[in-house]
Amino acid sequence: MTSPETPMASSTPTEPATDAVPNFAAPPRDFPIQRGCPFAPPAEYDALRNHDPVARVTLPTKKEAWVVARYDDVRELLSDPRVSADIRRPNFPALGEGEQEAGARFRPFIRTDAPEHTKYRRMLLPVFTVRRVRAMRPAVQARVDEIVDGMLAAGGPVDFVSAYANAVSTSVICELLGIPRDNLEFFRDVTRISGSRHSTAEQVAEALGGLFGLLGELIAERREEPRDDLISQLVTDHLVPGNVTMEQLLSTLGITINAGRETTTSMIALSTLLLLDKPELLAELRSDPSLMPAAVDEFLRVLSVADSIPLRVAAEDIELSGRTIPADDGVIALLAGANHDPEQFDDPQRVDFHRTDNHHVAFGYGVHQCVGQHLARLELEVALETLIRRVPTLRIEGERDEVAVKHDSATFGLEELMVTW
Ligand code: HEM
Repeated sequence: MTSPETPMASSTPTEPATDAVPNFAAPPRDFPIQRGCPFAPPAEYDALRNHDPVARVTLPTKKEAWVVARYDDVRELLSDPRVSADIRRPNFPALGEGEQEAGARFRPFIRTDAPEHTKYRRMLLPVFTVRRVRAMRPAVQARVDEIVDGMLAAGGPVDFVSAYANAVSTSVICELLGIPRDNLEFFRDVTRISGSRHSTAEQVAEALGGLFGLLGELIAERREEPRDDLISQLVTDHLVPGNVTMEQLLSTLGITINAGRETTTSMIALSTLLLLDKPELLAELRSDPSLMPAAVDEFLRVLSVADSIPLRVAAEDIELSGRTIPADDGVIALLAGANHDPEQFDDPQRVDFHRTDNHHVAFGYGVHQCVGQHLARLELEVALETLIRRVPTLRIEGERDEVAVKHDSATFGLEELMVTW
């Protein structure tokens, strides 16, 4: 799989576009639209919100769909029982052919509707409660400390995305599930291939097949000898009594790994780059570490890495901002559009750790809202706090403009970030 690398533009967010946008009769614009600045949505989202908030687009698959860019509309759409997340629907707005074909085959519950969706979501919810996640803090801190120890001992320069961001997110998920942590790059490759818009259905199936092979062996082991981990819990509570089939369990574990890894990796890497770019923010966090939880939510809002993950189909005609999305049409809720809506967030491109009522939708909204959000917040807090404290001289190695971003993946992020200290 190839992934086009684009040199990154300056850290100053692009000015909102003021030019007129096409009216309803104009040909649909191409989607996705690339970001100019890694810390802000594409400037075109401002124009969409202002002039064409429910807009027709052409996807890389050549299908047409709608995108919704205003905060209120995004929340209304994602909580509307008349929208479906079923990837088998013909107009499901997948951003790559491989995604839809493989998704229809493996049926990850993120791409299903009730009652199926509810059943698998309920299996996972008890593991990700605030209380259970709070209890994971010491283990997460221990993993992060180990990773920093390793990085410091090996010495710079290193690729931060691989050596830190991916190492943290993958180790934590492996620890939670009870997967040996000896091959972190394997998980990165699985997510990279299955999340890429350029992957064919065969490539996605092959990558997921490798993951399911590994998980299948662990499930068999835990069946014989349960341990204190998520796989054992799901095997004992759901597989053994026959609530789920082996295929369904594999698919549920697979989507948990895929949904949790790449997003968190991207958030750790981009938040770090943002802090390196804006020393005043770094200084603020250093002088008052109690700001970290608010900072994490502000990074989630500003960076909105899962911008176009909520893909839906209108099961009936749906009216939003005076426009009708006809039944059976695909529709994408632009989370970055919503999170940068000035009607909801004052001066949305400003990174402000003192923002009150930061009700962002970086984790989505409605019935599919991220089940792992408490864990994600914990990982980000520990990863960023530990880095700031233990590697105070962290800096970019090489040219800032050469940092490569990832535009071809379901999650926005960095391809590589060379750093030293
Ligand atoms: C900063 C990191 C993360 C971000 C930005 C993020 C974002 C999202 C978003 C936007 C959705 C909703 C998708 C939709 O509406 O179609 C979602 C769903 C989901 N996320 Fe996360 N996520 C993150 C971390 C995690 C973690 C750590 C896990 C688990 C370990 C996880 C597991 C899931 C699962 C299983 C779903 C599907 C929920 C459902 O369909 O009911 N995510 N995530």
